[in-house]
Amino acid sequence: MWWRRWSTACASIRRPTPVPDQRRPEKPLWEQWADQSAALPQGERLQKVLAGRGWGSRRVCEELIDAGRVTVNGEVARLGRRVDPDVDVVEVDGAPVGVKPGLVHYLLNKPAGVVTTAKDTHGRPTVVDLVPAEPRVFPVGRLDAETEGLLLLTNDGELANRVAHPRHGVEKEYLAVVRGHLNGGALRRLREGVDLDDGRTAPAKVSQPEPGMLRITIHEGRNRQVRRMCEAVGHPVERLIRVRIGPLRDGALAPGEWREL
Ligand code: URA
Repeated sequence: MWWRRWSTACASIRRPTPVPDQRRPEKPLWEQWADQSAALPQGERLQKVLAGRGWGSRRVCEELIDAGRVTVNGEVARLGRRVDPDVDVVEVDGAPVGVKPGLVHYLLNKPAGVVTTAKDTHGRPTVVDLVPAEPRVFPVGRLDAETEGLLLLTNDGELANRVAHPRHGVEKEYLAVVRGHLNGGALRRLREGVDLDDGRTAPAKVSQPEPGMLRITIHEGRNRQVRRMCEAVGHPVERLIRVRIGPLRDGALAPGEWREL
């Protein structure tokens, strides 16, 4: 009978009933939990974060993790762990990885007349001439030649992108000495957004602590933005000083001075 032959054949290929694997005990709960968290899609892979912070290639960083030398929030991390670099505290051999080896960050008080570039084609002094030559650093964002104030220089590309990219919304605060003093309407326009040739500006924080002196906080990084905004409301800028980048302020740095962060 065909069905008898069929069922015999099926029986011969039927998988054996799985028996519990006696040699592999169930993983301890904390390991299961770590596996689950490693599988979560959010966050960045730990080895990628470490590699991005100068601890070596991803392979080398995987070995650091494998060797149990990396902790996240005080617990030894397992390979595949994901972290949020803004929230989680990552350490290698007990040393925080927030400050990356080989990476430097300078906060410079840029004087007027110095250009924000690594090399000027017209031979003018540049901001990189004002800080140590080695390791080579680059400016984060730019200030116009005539603008004074705080500028970050670094060799840390990841940080530079976080600070400079408008997507991250890092505030930059300026003091502007302008021609004339602004009435309520002009202040409101600056606050709500001004139409410039490259589009309307995002809402800004603007106050006039004394007539003709503005405190302006923006988070976009458009070319000559503050100057163009003030010009657009009829009060051209006569002097512009950046006094804050995100949380960074420093009223004690003289023009041309810098400090390491
Ligand atoms: N806005 C300007 O107009 N100039 C700068 O240098 C920075 C912001």
